[in-house]
Amino acid sequence: MQKKVRYRLAIFASGGGSNAKCIIDYFKYHNNIEVVVLVSNRSAAGVLDIAKSHNLPTEIISQSELKEQDHVMSLLTGHEIDFIILAGFLLLIPPYLVAKYPNRIINIHPSLLPKYGGKGMYGHHVHEAVKIAGDNISGCTIHIVNEKFDEGRILLQVSCQISPLDTAIQIAAKVLKLEHTHFAKTLDDYIMSL
Ligand code: GAR
Repeated sequence: MQKKVRYRLAIFASGGGSNAKCIIDYFKYHNNIEVVVLVSNRSAAGVLDIAKSHNLPTEIISQSELKEQDHVMSLLTGHEIDFIILAGFLLLIPPYLVAKYPNRIINIHPSLLPKYGGKGMYGHHVHEAVKIAGDNISGCTIHIVNEKFDEGRILLQVSCQISPLDTAIQIAAKVLKLEHTHFAKTLDDYIMSL
């Protein structure tokens, strides 16, 4: 059977969207993979401005709407979405969506999972926990999404050194740099390997 040559991505994001920007830029001239929509649960999220500045369509799906299968699926099928990329998306993906997109939802988490994962562990909470624990390494994890927060199969984990003098903000900056370097390339490699 001939391999499909064009995969369509939806990026889901809740915040500032620096990872979303890297992914949009990376796939801009890709032959086989295209970012076609940016979905946020927050109408004030900075990531929406990034999407608009790249002429990327945006959609808002509120926390309660995310639970409405018909609504979400009609939006995603309307955009003919093949993969969902969570780039700082802070809501739990409901089981119906995991079932509709098996192995096709990918998340990035700013720690070396399974450390500092799970409900309530996101963004600065993670880096503050790393600081309090006095860890000398941190990093990020790119993984397949299942029904639980931060528990699916790991595609890539990369680490960086933490100095005892680093603040949580400095740890966050080191980890975010790793995210920007590795997320889009890991998506590319994974999607093209399927
Ligand atoms: C990133 O560090 C990402 O790993 C984290 O949110 C940040 C979003 O930054 N995601 C989580 O904590 C998910 N549990 P961005 O909006 O600048 O891409």
